[in-house]
Amino acid sequence: MLRTLASLAAAFCLLFTGACSAGPAPLRDAYRPHFLVGTAVNTRNYADENSEEARLVKTHFKVLTPENIMKWDALQPLPGQFDFRAADRLVEFARKNQLYVVGHTLVWHNQTPDWVFEGEAGRPPTRELLLARLRAHIDAVLGRYKGRVQAWDVVNEALNEDGSLRDTPWRRIIGDDYIEKAFEYARAADPAAHLYYNDYRLESPSKRAGAVALVKRLQIAGLRIDAVGLQGHVTLTQPSIQEQEDAILDFHRAGVKSMISEMDVDVLPSTKAWGDADIRLKEAADPAFNPYVSGLPPEIQSQLATRYADFFRMYLRQRDKIVRVTVWGLNDGDSWLNEFPIKGRTNHPLLFDRQNRPKPALQAIIDATKESRNAVR
Ligand code: G3I
Repeated sequence: MLRTLASLAAAFCLLFTGACSAGPAPLRDAYRPHFLVGTAVNTRNYADENSEEARLVKTHFKVLTPENIMKWDALQPLPGQFDFRAADRLVEFARKNQLYVVGHTLVWHNQTPDWVFEGEAGRPPTRELLLARLRAHIDAVLGRYKGRVQAWDVVNEALNEDGSLRDTPWRRIIGDDYIEKAFEYARAADPAAHLYYNDYRLESPSKRAGAVALVKRLQIAGLRIDAVGLQGHVTLTQPSIQEQEDAILDFHRAGVKSMISEMDVDVLPSTKAWGDADIRLKEAADPAFNPYVSGLPPEIQSQLATRYADFFRMYLRQRDKIVRVTVWGLNDGDSWLNEFPIKGRTNHPLLFDRQNRPKPALQAIIDATKESRNAVR
């Protein structure tokens, strides 16, 4: 009843005054001439098509990345037993609302069931067996969603801080070329899909150099990589805008576009290195590290808005080198940063608050597009 009254009031406003808007203009429309904007979603965000959360998703974003339901442990928890139910619902929601989907993620050392790395009699599988499992997974998943999931994070977080390849079961069992193999299988399974490498802290020069080397390896092997995802888990102060811009320029020089694939701005203190998203990290709870339980003070809210706007001004400057910017979660209550690296904190890293109200950061990044329009004139 209330919803009907609200819809009637909105329709009246639109028809007779043309001026009643329920909040900021759609973010995705402001950025349409420049690059795509997306959000990570969990299943609650769109379970009810008429919920406020689903409305925000549809209004402000053009691309969805499932936060968890397309990881290996969700899609193939047991050998050969796929569970596509949750992913199917997401893909259908996207289709109905003309949204793109980025499949996240095919090859990762986390969220992969133990059986994948187990062979006969407690021994690890052979290289051939693990490659066959990888190919079967990619064929099944990309085969099912061909034409409905437009892009894939093929390999996630394969690099150490010094730019060398991380020691994971994938690498130990298959060898360094597990990355080439994953791209080869994905390209064969869906030739039209966009394929990405995705990692955190790529602003750090040594890790970035490792990613550039990885891109070159794929190119030399004749494998197309469409873009590199800089995850963009930043804080209020680190990295500098320049450091991230330098990374985008380096990838451009290597012949690939960039995207900011998991952006959020951590406002809480922590002892971990900025941007580190290694989910094994854990720090002890300490009230001093959880200062904004009852809300974000206005001065921090304003710093958050400025920080988002500074990044988006740079993205606008480099728009020809950027495919997309995705924020990692719809509202502050959804964010993984409430649990990482300390469990049970109250973080405020996103564009909408816990009540789904737009934060000043949203308006600030919309306004950044107006400045950029004026600068062009
Ligand atoms: O689904 C289980 C549930 O059954 C169980 O009761 C509950 C108890 O803790 O856990 C649930 O699983 C959690 C899952 O999220 C779904 O909510 C896992 O414990 C938790 O570790 C997992 O965290 C996700 C994390 O990746 C690990 O997969 C975060 O939501 C997700 O935001 C985060 O995303 C990653 C990207 O994939 C890669 N880049 C870094 C980024 C942040 O870590």
